[in-house]
Amino acid sequence: MKPPPTLLSFQIPTLLCLVLVLLLVTTFESTLSSCSWPLISTLFIILSTFLFSISLNYWLVPGGFAWRNYHHYHNEKQTTKLIGPKGFPILGSLPHMGSHAHTKLSNMATSLNARRLMALSLGATPVVISSHPETAREILYGSSFSDRPIKESAKILMFERAIGFAPSGTYWRHLRRIASLHMFSPRRIQGLEGLRQRVADEMMMRMCKEMEEKGVVEVRGILQEGSLRNILESVFGTNGLDQREELGNMVKEGYELISKFNLEDYFPLKFLDFHGVKRRCHKLAAKVTRLVGQIVEERKRGEGFEGKSDFLSTLLSLPKEERLGDSDMVAILWEMIFRGTDTVSILLEWIMARMVLHQDIQIKARQEIDTLIGQNGHLQDSDIPNLPYLQAIVKEVLRLHPPGPLLSWARLANQDVHVDKVLVPAGTTAMVNMWAISHDPSFWDDPWAFKPERFLKEDVSIMGSDLRLAPFGAGRRVCPGRALGLTTVHLWLALLLHHFKWFPAQRVNLSESLRLSLEMKSPLRCLVVRR
Ligand code: HEM
Repeated sequence: MKPPPTLLSFQIPTLLCLVLVLLLVTTFESTLSSCSWPLISTLFIILSTFLFSISLNYWLVPGGFAWRNYHHYHNEKQTTKLIGPKGFPILGSLPHMGSHAHTKLSNMATSLNARRLMALSLGATPVVISSHPETAREILYGSSFSDRPIKESAKILMFERAIGFAPSGTYWRHLRRIASLHMFSPRRIQGLEGLRQRVADEMMMRMCKEMEEKGVVEVRGILQEGSLRNILESVFGTNGLDQREELGNMVKEGYELISKFNLEDYFPLKFLDFHGVKRRCHKLAAKVTRLVGQIVEERKRGEGFEGKSDFLSTLLSLPKEERLGDSDMVAILWEMIFRGTDTVSILLEWIMARMVLHQDIQIKARQEIDTLIGQNGHLQDSDIPNLPYLQAIVKEVLRLHPPGPLLSWARLANQDVHVDKVLVPAGTTAMVNMWAISHDPSFWDDPWAFKPERFLKEDVSIMGSDLRLAPFGAGRRVCPGRALGLTTVHLWLALLLHHFKWFPAQRVNLSESLRLSLEMKSPLRCLVVRR
């Protein structure tokens, strides 16, 4: 198998053209010297345009120019042909990767009849994208796709040493095991219920206050702060709370930097820093190391961490042979805060938008809660399994507005592999367009309608086994925080509906904006009435 094409290999046809033009010009120099300059330049332009078009033709292959070598070397051996947009020269399909990439890629796959697998080029990076549960399963469960491609910004922000981007190997397995035992185990999630209840009370108090003072509640800020507090306390105990604001700002900045489009990520130009993103990432990484490192040091010097259940204390209490080095500890603590904050608040904002928009569904959900515990009863985690309609609402929002429509973090083929009988070369980035799958009429009746009832008729698992709806991904790199995230969202949603009636303050705008996650473009503004 040939290695993936480099920028140099793209330049070769152009260079050949230029050399050819120069040769022609020198060969006929004597003839040309007797001609006038306008004639020479016209001849030169015509020839260059002709040769440039030939070289463009060479690039314009299915999937775009990052696949040029592929078609050259593999087409005859293929049983199934690769399908994909040719895209723009040099840029490939990069211009489509903005805040609506998921919808554009979905439309492209449909129009090319390439929902099972579509090839495209993001600059010099070859990409395949699945918009079908069967090929999604091959990618997400395939051992050849257990690594992730990493952007420079994520690398500098230390995520390569954390679970999300560490290459799948001994270190990554060790991190995942530690996290699933000490951060995401059912016992630990259960132990954090008091914290979730406290944070929900605080959020509801703030909502009442905003309603009194401003006559309207903008939920985004309140949910973000609540999520941040919730994750900080579960990671650091009460220690990290003094630095809450600073850590919150760091999460915001990190989120912005990772979401930023960087030309250097798609071409072999890593030494460049066009938008100053790398410089800002280095600065932020130094701040994170200092601040999180300081919290770790304080905890080490403190009255002891044995017996405490926050994640940091459990990391420090690990037996010597399992313990992480200081910088790795900082990386994983930072990742937990980073991943645990926005995912939950973004999902809840979408859910509340749907609740405000569909008053009948909101009333039905509240009735379900009242029937179970009464209007003045106290809601607990243990009530959630008895609230199937509430759970169906969460599933339906995850279907219509998956926070990671392209599963946020792509996978990387670490060897040549076949997907749907198509050869995918090592080094190819593989994505799953979960948004396209969860809006596909072949798998969902009336896919654009908000109908939680569909999940009462058919129990669809959202944890990664049914690829028609896998908002947390699937396979070896499935989201390890899914149970914690869902438990938090279910409890907070139930409490918000039980304590308040929700109405729109203005027309609910469901426009989407894809950054690291799929957010509501305009923040939701509601009127909240205490019951
Ligand atoms: C609504 C909540 C959440 C959603 C929708 C979500 C979604 C996702 C998705 C789509 C992936 C990629 C999975 C794949 O490649 O197959 C992922 C990975 C990950 N998530 Fe979540 N997530 C959520 C909550 C959380 C929380 C609360 C945490 C931690 C506190 C977390 C930590 C992670 C980590 C560490 C990974 C990387 C796993 C790996 O590469 O091995 N997530 N998440």
